[in-house]
Amino acid sequence: MLEDIMNIVVVGHVDHGKSTVIGHLLADTGSLPKGKLEAIRENCKRNSKPFEYAFLLDALKNEQSQGITIDTCRCFFQTEKRRYIIIDAPGHIEFLKNMVTGASRAEAALMVIDAAHGVEENTRRHGYYLSMLGIKQVAVLVNKMDLIDYDQARYAQIRAEYTAFLEEIGIQPKTFIPVSAQVGDNIAFHSDRMEWYDGMTVLQVLDSFENIQPSHQLPFRMPVQGVYKFTAGGDMRRIIAGTVDSGSLRAGDEVVFYPSGKRTKVKRFEAFNAEAPTEVQADDAVGFTMEEEIYVRRGEIACRAGETPPKVAVRFRANLFWLGSAPLRLHRLYHFKCGTQKLPVRLVSVERVINASNLACEQRQWVNKNEVALCTFLLDVPAAFDTTDQLPSTARFVIVDEYQLAGGGIIVEALQDEDYDVRNIRSSGSVTETEREKLTGRKGYVVWLTGLSGAGKSTLATAAERQLLSRGIAAFTLDGDAMRKGLCADLGFSDADRTENQRRAAQTAALLKQAGLVVLVSTISPLQAHRDFARQCIGGDFMEVYVKADIETCRSRDPKKLYEKLDTDGIADFTGVDSSYEVPARPDLVLDTVADSEDECADALVDAILKKLP
Ligand code: ADX
Repeated sequence: MLEDIMNIVVVGHVDHGKSTVIGHLLADTGSLPKGKLEAIRENCKRNSKPFEYAFLLDALKNEQSQGITIDTCRCFFQTEKRRYIIIDAPGHIEFLKNMVTGASRAEAALMVIDAAHGVEENTRRHGYYLSMLGIKQVAVLVNKMDLIDYDQARYAQIRAEYTAFLEEIGIQPKTFIPVSAQVGDNIAFHSDRMEWYDGMTVLQVLDSFENIQPSHQLPFRMPVQGVYKFTAGGDMRRIIAGTVDSGSLRAGDEVVFYPSGKRTKVKRFEAFNAEAPTEVQADDAVGFTMEEEIYVRRGEIACRAGETPPKVAVRFRANLFWLGSAPLRLHRLYHFKCGTQKLPVRLVSVERVINASNLACEQRQWVNKNEVALCTFLLDVPAAFDTTDQLPSTARFVIVDEYQLAGGGIIVEALQDEDYDVRNIRSSGSVTETEREKLTGRKGYVVWLTGLSGAGKSTLATAAERQLLSRGIAAFTLDGDAMRKGLCADLGFSDADRTENQRRAAQTAALLKQAGLVVLVSTISPLQAHRDFARQCIGGDFMEVYVKADIETCRSRDPKKLYEKLDTDGIADFTGVDSSYEVPARPDLVLDTVADSEDECADALVDAILKKLP
């Protein structure tokens, strides 16, 4: 059995002859089960329909029993040089999905174009997908030459047109081949019907492709699947387990885990009921013990010291293929899965959404189902990954929306910026506010809304909260009324109680801000001393907003019917009536809810807040 295996994919517009090409390849290389071809020919004859190689593929797929030559999505054949696996996806969406999720890895592609129809939408679209997936070895088969009388000029025209398209997307095809997959011209044998063509046959071009299987020459990468402890009494050893993505590793080698950067040496490989290997390589399922018992978690990538390390970053650019029925939206929380890492991630910008068939770019900040886009993502914490030009398998990731796989992508660039320099982050001890900010990309802030009862503080706070949340900013309204129901239920409206009420509000806001929230405090906060205390207690990242409305307007609005109650039953120490309200001396912002509409005020508030955030 030949050891050399290559995964190839056959793509092209529907009906341009993909199945026929595959059928002929299988037949001409003698890869079909005995008697299969004859049986299908016989069947066609009986039903008086002309035999087609494509039927062969359908027939093979329908048979569950013959797992030898074909399974549901893979066909095998071999030449003298190597074995081939044809990754046959039912449609381009499935193909793309399988490729980006790593379910299949094509190393080379055959693009089939119908000579009579020429370059069509999917011919271009599939070409673009190949380029996005980094499949550089491509041969273009101009098929059904028999239907155009082997017309060289037509072939040359298609070749010129498609070459120009491929050039735009950075693919240089290995060659173009005029074929008839139905007749068998130039598939396995040179055709004597196209003397003007003296290039390679399809089988020859396949054999000329180079394997790009992960080899031991590539840097070692093993995403840590799990860390297992020996169960025997007192045994402290841990086994690091995973499957090797690329490269090789020997007992005694120094390993570095990313993103943590922790190092140790491989003590020995462990095998279950088998002799332990001394060296492991790509595709091996591996478990090893370490010289030192360092703490390593699932999700890290084990790498070999001295080899090119992976990138460690929180921001990255990627080519993304979106599968989710709900569009991919800015700032919404998704999960990023790469290797064995699963981390919260948000889309921060879309550079362009690409119409794959004409390469037209659209400038918009969301991505619909089945679209391809170049975009930037931000993780909550640093991840380790490679870029596709460096190591394609650890550059692949998928996006999970709730529990559904919603997209797949390929990382093209790790974005390093000083703000997110992970080396500044300590690995132990309490987390400072600045560290938290760097790690989460979130900045806490306190917006202190003061004004009379009925001025519109809560209305504006909640409107701003909503707007901020929809932009992906973690905002939270700390409402005076809500606090008075719980945290401050023991307090009334005397001067002393109000001061204590304000102290609690300020301290709570300070904690929430520290946790990374934009806190909108909505409380009367009648005295300047109250607001000054809050500013001081929060220490920076604070804004005093005066929600301005005269008492007559507040009285006429009377949202809580308090003014009515004041007139009928009387309320002691009512702000603005028999308890004073000091108009802010130097507010950072004034929102005049009498002169301006609710929307205008809310927008002005959000604008002012956004200016203060990174
Ligand atoms: S503060 O003066 O201590 O800042 P806070 O904002 O927490 O007051 O609570 C004010 C809310 O309590 C008002 O919105 C109103 O619904 C209610 N309330 C009940 N009694 C009074 C009162 N005497 N003066 C002001 N607000 C009152």
